[in-house]
Amino acid sequence: MTANTEFPDGFLWGAATAAYQIEGSPLADGAGASIWHRFSHTPGRVADGDTGDIACDHYRRFRDDVALMRDLGLSAYRFSISWSRVMPDGTGAVNQRGLDFYRALLDALGEAGIAASATLYHWDLPAALEDRGGWLNRDIASWFADYAEVCYRALGDRVALWATLNEPWVVVDGGYLHGTLAPGHRGLFGARRAAHHCLLAHASALAVGRAQGLKNLGVVVNLEPKHPASDSPADLSAARRADAYMNRQYLEPLLLGRYPDELAAIYGEAWSEPSPADMEAIRAPLDWLGINYYSRSVVRADSAAWPVGASRVKQRQCTHTETDWEVYPAGLEETLRAVHERYSAPPIYITENGSAFYDPPTATEGLVEDPLRTAYLRSHLAAVRRAIAAGVDVRGYFAWSLLDNLEWSLGFAKRFGIVHVDFATQRRTPKSSARAYSAIARSNGSDV
Ligand code: FCB
Repeated sequence: MTANTEFPDGFLWGAATAAYQIEGSPLADGAGASIWHRFSHTPGRVADGDTGDIACDHYRRFRDDVALMRDLGLSAYRFSISWSRVMPDGTGAVNQRGLDFYRALLDALGEAGIAASATLYHWDLPAALEDRGGWLNRDIASWFADYAEVCYRALGDRVALWATLNEPWVVVDGGYLHGTLAPGHRGLFGARRAAHHCLLAHASALAVGRAQGLKNLGVVVNLEPKHPASDSPADLSAARRADAYMNRQYLEPLLLGRYPDELAAIYGEAWSEPSPADMEAIRAPLDWLGINYYSRSVVRADSAAWPVGASRVKQRQCTHTETDWEVYPAGLEETLRAVHERYSAPPIYITENGSAFYDPPTATEGLVEDPLRTAYLRSHLAAVRRAIAAGVDVRGYFAWSLLDNLEWSLGFAKRFGIVHVDFATQRRTPKSSARAYSAIARSNGSDV
């Protein structure tokens, strides 16, 4: 093996999950309801009426899940903390039993020698805070900072990497613009407000962590290259708008302290100039940046596509996953190189990358063969390796997901796990992708 094919020593080989998608027992032990509990219990919101009431029952089976990761040889685990378990009303009283659950999880990870990455917000806002305006209320910056402070103090000694938010773009686009995700609002003014408040909340949680002396604070964004469908000026500018809206709306405030110019036109009347003080707070240096990557999109100009004026052109002659995302590993290398070249970015972790495929049952008892997911994993890891060889400081990779789980409004039908979950029995079966990933992790990537 030549030097430039190596993953660096200490590279983290992990898997990721999120609280509402796997835990179940959403109201156990004094927890408050979250907006996802409400949303999934509203008829018509989640496919097949699926809810997170049981999910992977991880709340009760977490020790088995940690043992599974240990047996697979994983060196890291990314999970999220449910805000309403820790603070049932979102602010004020702390629910010790909620913290105890995460403490027990972290203890189990520590005993298994697995580094923990904890995300403070992976979309499950306390419902009580939604009743006070949720992400539309600027006070959320201080609500979130108070919650973060409680988590840092109670759990920080065991957390290797803290992330404030997961994918603010999805929080806003799904939850506030199109209403396809909780809390299900639809409107441009709210979307713009929520986006800015996400960034402010991130900034205040970062500041509170800094005040406690933490040096492992980051945030997770989802990035997707936007390629123009043709060289026409209209398509080129549609691709730039799509990139500004999805990628740079979050990256540039965080890394440059400004919003991209395109946003004023995209938001129109809903745009207002943020204050310099806000932008200064938002650009506070990060210790690491988490990037979630799944696919690219090829876009064309489309004035009917509100509000960005760009719509996706589905590519032919290539594999798409069950969520209809094009398998495009080169986009991961492109994304990593672009972040590295355009911004002085901190060390990067791939905090999510994975694919939903239908895993056909096999005749062999106890085996789930998932060749498409295995190929996806290998090709994307090869892209990470190329980016590292080109000089990008990537320190770890987390497969999405450890377990088949509740894929938000798509329900349980879309399976992203490297471990199969039989939801009737809760039996876990590592798929062939998990076995391949295990060999990769154990060889620090020489088996990619
Ligand atoms: C990401 C989410 C994660 C999961 C994957 C498929 O956007 O962060 O929870 O749903 O997509």
